Amino acid sequence: MNYDRPPNNKDCAAQLTCLAVFQTNSRMEYGGGARSRAFKGLVVHSLGMGKLQILDPGVIGVSPQGVIEFIEDWPTFASTRTVVSRELHHESVTPAAVAPPPVCDTTLTLMAQAGAEDLSGVGGGVGGGVGGGAERHGTPVVSESSSEEAEEQARPPKRRRRAATFDEMVERFPAPLAGGGGGAASSSSSSSSSSSSGGGGGGSGSGSHDEGAPRGVHLVDMGRKLILPGFVDGHAHAPQYAIVGTGMDLPLLEWLEKYTFPTEAKFACASFARRIYSSSVRRHLDCGTTTCSYFATIHLEASKVLADVVEHEGMRGFVGKVCMDRNSKPYYVESTEDSAADSRAFADYVLQKKNDLVTPVVTPRFVPSCTPELMQALGDLSREHSPPLPVQSHLSESVNECEWVKGLHPDCENYAAVYDKYGLLHSRSYMAHCVHCCGAERELLASSGTGVIHCPNSNFSLSSGILNVRRMLAEGIKVGLGTDVSGGYSCSMLDAMRQAITASKMVAIGKGDAMGGGSTAVEPLSFSDVFHLATVGGAQCLGIEDKIGNFVAGKEFDALIVDPSVEGGPFDLGEDDSALDVFQRFIFTGDDRNIERVYVRGKRVK
Ligand code: GUN
Ligand code: FE
Repeated sequence: MNYDRPPNNKDCAAQLTCLAVFQTNSRMEYGGGARSRAFKGLVVHSLGMGKLQILDPGVIGVSPQGVIEFIEDWPTFASTRTVVSRELHHESVTPAAVAPPPVCDTTLTLMAQAGAEDLSGVGGGVGGGVGGGAERHGTPVVSESSSEEAEEQARPPKRRRRAATFDEMVERFPAPLAGGGGGAASSSSSSSSSSSSGGGGGGSGSGSHDEGAPRGVHLVDMGRKLILPGFVDGHAHAPQYAIVGTGMDLPLLEWLEKYTFPTEAKFACASFARRIYSSSVRRHLDCGTTTCSYFATIHLEASKVLADVVEHEGMRGFVGKVCMDRNSKPYYVESTEDSAADSRAFADYVLQKKNDLVTPVVTPRFVPSCTPELMQALGDLSREHSPPLPVQSHLSESVNECEWVKGLHPDCENYAAVYDKYGLLHSRSYMAHCVHCCGAERELLASSGTGVIHCPNSNFSLSSGILNVRRMLAEGIKVGLGTDVSGGYSCSMLDAMRQAITASKMVAIGKGDAMGGGSTAVEPLSFSDVFHLATVGGAQCLGIEDKIGNFVAGKEFDALIVDPSVEGGPFDLGEDDSALDVFQRFIFTGDDRNIERVYVRGKRVK
């Protein structure tokens, strides 16, 4: 299958015939060759909570390095840019449709909140539609190109391998029954190299072109397909993909003991890890997650495998070796020394890749799993780096867990204060759940710059509780969304968005307290709010909002092409659907079948 060509569309394929050959650069590592590309479609991205910008149609310019050069409405683009080649990628292309379209397209910026001002400053426009209409605006179309000259040379199509069933895996790789340590090699070598995630990236050359390459853009016309920023999953457990969708019958602590620890123990075997991790990362990418913050397991080798898989698949990944030196089963626990040393070795391993897309994360599992000595060592490890290495963990997820922490640390005022005592709360930290955080904890989260990853599916599935997101935001705390696979049973951030809306409606019904007894009116989250959390909010929590989250010039092009009319897809469009209707339908009823393409820093990964 050629990713570039709509299936079963001979008309369209014929139009992709190359009419004029132009020189291309053989450097294809970013998937774009030497020429900037301009993606045209229904562009929807977030400029803030409740602030969607919709360009119908809009165009996003992307440099060969995968950096966004411009975002424009179609008329502006058509009247100011030079299109030197073009691809058409939509089903309904017929020779007649390539003629100048009727004047029916509008360019609008929509603020989802009533009464908000228009951001675009652009009124209704002409042009756009199938086939462009560039000629009408005086844009010289020098040639059309074949897809062979397009960005997709970067990645051969991929078939998903059939993953072995978990039973098959259990048979082949039984869990170790005794002995701690995980058997992984350890290293105590130190590192003070700076974090790979601290900005810059491979795309600082916005607008750059290779010397000698013809100027002008290559237009990739997606018709009325949506162009959305990739989703940011702020919290997922890659090893738990092995049991996702099973064992949803217990609350957190019992669930960890019965299902989770025995599963994670199997990752002492690196080849088992590679198979599960490959399936897991592929699944997340296919669902439109371009950035994911992963917990691995306590095993150094398997954690390296996860970092390797993330890199190989082209995902933007934050990866943590999990740390646990107390309160576990004998078959799944490490010594304090091994845990600290292996965390350091893991960070070194990832940083030496010098790949901006893969970032090591310091990952204490949660307070009950980590001794004060280990937490101190991990806080020190994070802060040795400048900026500090990111820290991820769980915080105030369930009532029983909070009680347990109180008993373990009577010296600390609250759960968050334990992490803070050991240097684990700072502007690169983000904590999953935070459902039961009291006012003092929330103040600490805000003052330390720690983000909160809201995982509503998991909070429902493990009967943990319901987060009041609006209160967190009102108090100045960064909030993103996570799937928390497999505490949550879905790998899809579409599910996380929907369940975040449902959770917020329960909070609203309970007047601010989902468990009842609240007294403050709280507005539920809208589809545009949760879309913001799933993109910009997640990027803020992970400290990469300067790089991704929306389509601001200078950021990197992590994006989804969504076909709302895909054959056999999960919903039908209405005849009069506006761009906003199409977008809403996808958020509420779409799935991975609609997600036709996925780009990370301009490179196609689905
Ligand atoms: N708390 C400690 N470990 C875990 C985990 O694996 N999942 C969830 N949801 N909470 C945790
Ligand atoms: Fe979790």
